[in-house]
Amino acid sequence: MAEVTLTIDGKQVTVPAGTTVLDAARSAGIFIPTLCHDPELTPWGGCRLCVVEIEGMRNLPASCVTTVTSGMVVHTASPAVVEARKTIIELLLANHPQDCLTCGRNGDCRLQDYAYMYGVREPGFTGERHSYPIEDDNPFIVRDLNKCILCGKCVRACAEIQGKNIVDFAYRGFNTKVTPAMDSTLAGSDCVFCGNCVAVCPVGALQEKRLRAAARTWEVKKVRTTCPYCGTGCTFDLNV
Ligand code: FES
Repeated sequence: MAEVTLTIDGKQVTVPAGTTVLDAARSAGIFIPTLCHDPELTPWGGCRLCVVEIEGMRNLPASCVTTVTSGMVVHTASPAVVEARKTIIELLLANHPQDCLTCGRNGDCRLQDYAYMYGVREPGFTGERHSYPIEDDNPFIVRDLNKCILCGKCVRACAEIQGKNIVDFAYRGFNTKVTPAMDSTLAGSDCVFCGNCVAVCPVGALQEKRLRAAARTWEVKKVRTTCPYCGTGCTFDLNV
């Protein structure tokens, strides 16, 4: 297979042609934060947190959907990149409940991790906030759309891992949300509650009801397991 050599943060990196900048950086041990990316799902490029600076380009491309080219020079933590990431985190927090202390995902939330990592202590922007009712009408999953960051991982996990297409994006602009058809609840849809969507959610929008009631995130460990429902044998991470 053809290989491509590029420079990332001053380090020469050689990867197979077709590799994304994100994967090339990771292969060299260079950290780039991600929210909507998951190696088991189709890259989407929606959250923009993985932006990098590439010499010769005027914008900051998302590294998870940008393919490496020979001689490319990438900076993953330049002042412009750090500033862009901080702004993205501030924008997300501007419409996100500030209840980390009592959130069931406290200590296991990517948004919380990155806010801490980039020194974002306040939302930075004020404006309208969502006030969705918390969906709690099934025995397995609590869905709090007020905490959803629209990363689309649950949409792709449902379609690509479980093959169900139960949830998708609906509405437009500020009103965009992820929901089953006809804006029903999960209980009112054909959801089999396999838990793949919960396993990939990076924030507190989707939580296992049993876990939320029984333990804090640091009291459990993630194990690789197999969904028992449809017999396909899909594997995913489960908290035990
Ligand atoms: Fe690349 Fe979200 S992780 S755009």
